[in-house]
This record gives sequence, structure tokens and C-alpha cells, in this order.
Amino acid sequence: MEFHSPRILIVDDETVLRNLIKQYLEKFGYFCVTAPDVRRALIAINSDRFDLVITDIRMPEFDGTFLLKEIAQSHPDVAVIMMTAVDDTKQAVECLKLGAYDYILKPFEMEALRLSVERALERRNLLRERQLYRSQLEKKVHERTIELVRAFDEIERTYQQTLEALVSALDMRESSTAGHSKRAVEYTRILAREMGIRGNQLVQITRGALLHDVGKIGISDTILLKPAPLSEEEWKIMRQHPIMGYQMLRDIEFLRPSLDVVLYHHERYDGSGYPFGLKGEEIPIGARIFAVVDAFDAMTSKRLYREPMDFQEAVEVLKKQAGAQFDPKIVEVFLNIPLTRLKRIYQISLISYTTKEEPDYPHLIHQQKEGEEGRPNEEDLKERTGT
Ligand SMILES: [Fe+2]
Repeated sequence: MEFHSPRILIVDDETVLRNLIKQYLEKFGYFCVTAPDVRRALIAINSDRFDLVITDIRMPEFDGTFLLKEIAQSHPDVAVIMMTAVDDTKQAVECLKLGAYDYILKPFEMEALRLSVERALERRNLLRERQLYRSQLEKKVHERTIELVRAFDEIERTYQQTLEALVSALDMRESSTAGHSKRAVEYTRILAREMGIRGNQLVQITRGALLHDVGKIGISDTILLKPAPLSEEEWKIMRQHPIMGYQMLRDIEFLRPSLDVVLYHHERYDGSGYPFGLKGEEIPIGARIFAVVDAFDAMTSKRLYREPMDFQEAVEVLKKQAGAQFDPKIVEVFLNIPLTRLKRIYQISLISYTTKEEPDYPHLIHQQKEGEEGRPNEEDLKERTGT
């Protein structure tokens, strides 16, 4: 909505006519400026704001059509009315195609010109309001889209943290495999990337790696924590954990693409694995990748019944099992990853596991706030501890 007097630029090489138009329109509250040629009209329009330009077509040097094109390009929200002699109507119609709002034939009644001015300004204001509305709408849509993306990221992050908490509860139960899930995720991420996997597929496979043994929740402590080799009967139960994990998670839409790793991570390339005895590329790629890192981490980690294997020794086992237990192409890619990179992940996982009990407990934070400069004062400590 505009509250100022409409500003009009009148361009004509006939001094008498342009002054007559100015005087007439000013009587109706318009603010008018005149220019005798296109050059001066352009200076005026580039240095001041106008709502409407009334221009003659035929003028020496540059004509009105030239001015119209310039305005259409540099000031598209300025309305233009062309004035033309009767024998120029063809050109006037061309001007309409170029974006002029109207044309008026000379000689004309001033009242006819005023009506044309009124119509042009109304149309222009309507167009401007529509443009403004559209750009505000686009801005709002853009802002809402950003909000939605942020909210979605936040939900996804929270979801991921919840899954990590669940898995770390499992890891803690089976304390001999401390940090296994976290390492498996990192090794899987590296190997899958080296295999050229990116984007959503990478996220899904690493999420599958995180959750691979979630089905062990259904295995009793006597079997899971047995400090000796399992009996055949116990193995039968243990071999159910991929199916149990799959059944636990299959109704969660968000996790569905990650379940390949959960369900098939104990399948073997030669078909001797479980639970289905799938062979070669029947086993989904995520599960084939994970099988390599899972075995590597199992060999290089300390277990209840044995000491960890040296990294180089584990590499030799992988080589031997390529084509039998593992997809040989995936083993080849894995062997190209520098062992120092894997060792670093291993060491970090141990540090983060052993320092898990370091405080950021809420009650300690509370105590810290009570003392000066964030430290508990002596008396307060004595009172709390009774010393
Ligand atoms: Fe497993």
C-alpha cells in the first residue's frame, strides 16, 4: 500500500505539450517532472523514484521505444504510457508487446490521458502488491522449510542418541565386548566409504552396524556371558540373535533399510553362515562389509576366554578367509586401509569406554554452581560430607 502522491515523468520534445500535461495532471494531485528527451529522462529515472512515465514515441536522437526498453529492463515496476501520432499506431502496438501499459493517440483530450494514467497506476499497484505478496510467501515458505529441516535433523539426532544408548547398554552387559559396537560403526563407515558408498546408503549401513547385535537382548546371561565355549544347544539359541534383532526392529519404518546388516551379518560368503546360509552376492552389500569389520574387531579385542590378536595377525586371518567367510573384493579394499587408522579408532574407543564414569552428573554440576567461581566452598563440602 502506497500513501505518497504518484510520481510521473513526462517525456516529450514538444515543450508546450509536456508542460500542459504536467499542469493538468498536477491539478489531480500527481507529482510531475518533465524531460525534453530520452537522455535526460534516463538521468531522471535513474536518480529518482517514479511510478509512471508518459513518453512520446517519435523524438530526435533516441525514440520512446528505446526508453521503454530501458525502463522495462532496469525499472520493471515503473508503468509506461506511450503517446503517438495516428500514423504510428503499428509501433504503438509493438510497444504494448514490449511492456507498455497503454498508448494514446495525439491529439488527445487531457481527460482521456488522465483516465489512462489512473488505469495504468491501478494496474501497476495491483501487480506490485501481487509481487510483494508472492515474495513474502516465498520467504515464509523458505523460512518454514529451514525450520522443518532443523526439526527433522534434531529428531534424527535424538533418535540416533537413543539408539546409541540402547546399544551401549548392550555393550555394558557383555562387558568383554566393551566398545565393540562403536568401533564396528567406525570401521564400517571407513570401509563402506572406501567401497564408494555415500549418502543415505552409508547412513543406513552404519546404523545397521550400530544395531547389529541388538537381538542379543533376547539371549540369556548364562549363554551370552559364559566364560567357555558354547555347547551345540547353546549355539542354536545364540544363532537366533540376528532374527530376534530383525523382529524387534522391523516395524520401525525409519530403521527398515538398516536391517540387512542386523539380519544377515552372520552369513558367510561361501554359504556356510547363518541364519539362512545365503551365498556370495545374495548377501546384501552392507552385511558383507560388516562381516569383515565385525570379525576383525572380534579378533583384535579382548574377550573373556582369550587375549586380543595382534592387528597384523588378524589381517592374515582375513586374507585366509577371503572367498570363504568374506567377500574377497571387500577384504581387498579393507586391506588397503592403513592399520594406523584402525588402531587410532581402537584406542579412542577404549579411552571413551574407560572414562565413561567421569562426571557430568547433574548433582555435581549443581554443587559446582553453589561455590564461588563455580567451585564448592570448603564449609559447604564439610557439611555435605560430615567431615
Ligand atoms: Fe552377531
